[in-house]
Amino acid sequence: MNWWVLIAFVAAMLVLRWRRVGILTWVAAWLVGLYLVLNYVFVVPVPVSVIKIYMGIVSLSLFAFVLTDSQRMTEFWQPIQAFVVEPRYRPLLALVALAIPALVAFRIYADMTATPQAPFFARTVHPAPPDSIIVHDSELALGTADNPYRDLETSNPEEFKERLEKGRAVYYLNCFYCHGDLMAGAGMYAHALNPIPTNFQDPGTIAMLREAFLYWRIAKGAPGMPEEGGPWQSAMPAWESFLTEEEMWNVILFLYDFTGYQPRAVELH
Ligand code: HEC
Repeated sequence: MNWWVLIAFVAAMLVLRWRRVGILTWVAAWLVGLYLVLNYVFVVPVPVSVIKIYMGIVSLSLFAFVLTDSQRMTEFWQPIQAFVVEPRYRPLLALVALAIPALVAFRIYADMTATPQAPFFARTVHPAPPDSIIVHDSELALGTADNPYRDLETSNPEEFKERLEKGRAVYYLNCFYCHGDLMAGAGMYAHALNPIPTNFQDPGTIAMLREAFLYWRIAKGAPGMPEEGGPWQSAMPAWESFLTEEEMWNVILFLYDFTGYQPRAVELH
């Protein structure tokens, strides 16, 4: 609470009362005073919508206060009438007549020249994947899917090795331009891109992810990423247009083998 604002308000109202100001001044003082109190007395800001509702109610009650008594009515309108009619106020009246459109014009000018603000996005590097995706006509439930060739690591190391070699070929034919020779995100195109290509050596990337998540990101690339993946435009291509499902699973095996990380396991609920 900013007590001094409240004290200033009460003091000002007492002075006005003591000076026996006209009813118009009195009404104006209540409106302005309460507006200032709502805006500046509370340390936690009062929402604009609440202030609007409150000021609406206050205006109505002040209106009712004036309207219910004919003497107050006359007293209220007298200064306004005088201002409009009496010749001595004419210069001031002309000023007010000019000031109203000028204020409107200024307001529009200020709105139009305001520096644009980027919209707020809660942004994450690893947005939530969809429940399932369709790649080359087959549907894959991302929550439960796993690399179909992962088991070969123990069951058939020979074939696993072959797949790693195929994955290596896929990587050095397609991915290293951006993700780099050493998978550190420093490929020859990397410097032109924003966001920069993911550094797979960083423990915050593939080491934290499941293979199905990588499959989704590789197959679908940047197009159609959920909004939280934005507002940046990623250059990651949608590889389903160029690679077979097998090639994509193979390159994933190679990403983990080359970096020495293990994929995060499927969580069974
Ligand atoms: C034209 C450059 C480019 C090429 C080529 C490219 N990528 Fe990417 N990739 C990116 C960029 C940029 C990002 C980071 C932004 C994003 O997540 O979309 C990224 C992100 C990724 C991610 C997400 C990693 C994470 O932590 O979420 C994976 C997985 C990935 N790429 C795999 C690949 C594979 C596999 C290939 C080759 C088949 C490839 N990329 C080729 C630019 C590229």
